[in-house]
Amino acid sequence: MATQLGNGALAKAQALDDAYVMHTYGRLPVEFVSGSGAELVDSEGRVYLDFLGGIGCASLGHANRVVAAAVREQLDRVWQVGNYYHVEHRGELAKAISELLSTTTDERGHAVGSTGTIWKTFFANSGAEANEGALKVARRWGERTLEGASGIISARQSFHGRTLATLAATGQDVFHRSFGPFPEGFSSVPLNDLDALSAAVGMGGTCAVMLECVQGEGGVWSANPDYLRGVRALCDERGLMLIVDEVQTGFFRCGAPFSFQLAGIEPDIVSMAKGIADGFPMGAVAARAQVADLMAPGDHGSTFGGSALAAAAGLATVTELVRRDMGEHVIATGDYLAERLASLPHVTEVRGRGLMRGAQLDVPIATPLVEQGLGRGLVLNHIGDSILRFLPPLVVTREEIDTMAERLGELIGELA
Ligand SMILES: Cc1ncc(COP(=O)(O)O)c(C=O)c1O
Repeated sequence: MATQLGNGALAKAQALDDAYVMHTYGRLPVEFVSGSGAELVDSEGRVYLDFLGGIGCASLGHANRVVAAAVREQLDRVWQVGNYYHVEHRGELAKAISELLSTTTDERGHAVGSTGTIWKTFFANSGAEANEGALKVARRWGERTLEGASGIISARQSFHGRTLATLAATGQDVFHRSFGPFPEGFSSVPLNDLDALSAAVGMGGTCAVMLECVQGEGGVWSANPDYLRGVRALCDERGLMLIVDEVQTGFFRCGAPFSFQLAGIEPDIVSMAKGIADGFPMGAVAARAQVADLMAPGDHGSTFGGSALAAAAGLATVTELVRRDMGEHVIATGDYLAERLASLPHVTEVRGRGLMRGAQLDVPIATPLVEQGLGRGLVLNHIGDSILRFLPPLVVTREEIDTMAERLGELIGELA
């Protein structure tokens, strides 16, 4: 590790982490103590441009004033009472999510209308939990309408979370090496291969197809729009649920409110998390009302899910994203980010949509780029040896993109 960032507060944080925190993550040697917009500040007072955004969560940027004020206001009243009761903001947030889900857009993500569909939402605390809910709703559908069919078909290279069922749904062998046995009924087929999916469905026993429209953790690979339309038609023909995992892609990350809208399709079940509350822990699963209504009291639950505090954070975030017309900003700055990345040395391809981008390198230097990026004031992320992934706060500016691209370009030149 070439970056030297001082040894005061950081050394203490590292020692405590080594001794007392479970080592499920390879931690980089920096401790962030504050942030604003797309900037982060470390314990030594150094400023960074953040192109990972809390792994795609800081949609309105770090410590957004409007969300902070809403949470602060709620903090002084009540935080958590349990789901046996009504709380402020939860219903309003669910209504706002329903309106965003029913939005129709053109293929670039500009809003053009509404499907008029009513969506009902269950609130959880994370993306994996949102997907667990999605799987249960799909299996309820299978039980009630498909003679008990319970099979879920996902895509290779997908990522759906770290619980046992969401790992089973994750189509990457690397995640299946330990921790079995996994729940039964999961299989995966190559993305963008409709024949493979049809053949898998043809074997019977399936209740749902589960997809990311842009695979995030798998390397930023897009499902092509024709494929998505074909999947929708296949699910309609067979009466299957189409689950779209919008945990990473949702809430304007790809320009449209949700990435499925870019292909002009409407799923039956949608999971979401990350950007929903600007980094406050929240996940959610929504289903078309007719599907959602198959779930009855006692069928699913979460102690913390949809607490008053989380609902305040979520409603403030979603309201502010809409008020600021964030989709338009993302479409424009996302194109600009892609352009700047494409012009960097050793970048052979830029994938993804909006402000969810992957830059493919022709040299395996992604890991040192991320490590040494810190020394240049850049928070970067990599997938494997040769893919850089970018998930900046949606409020990132062109000037910030320029600064990042200049610094990154220099670093690539030095390391390649
Ligand atoms: C598409 C997708 N689904 C699910 C998850 C799991 O979310 P969480 O880590 O909040 O459980 C992630 C996390 O990166 C994701 O990208």
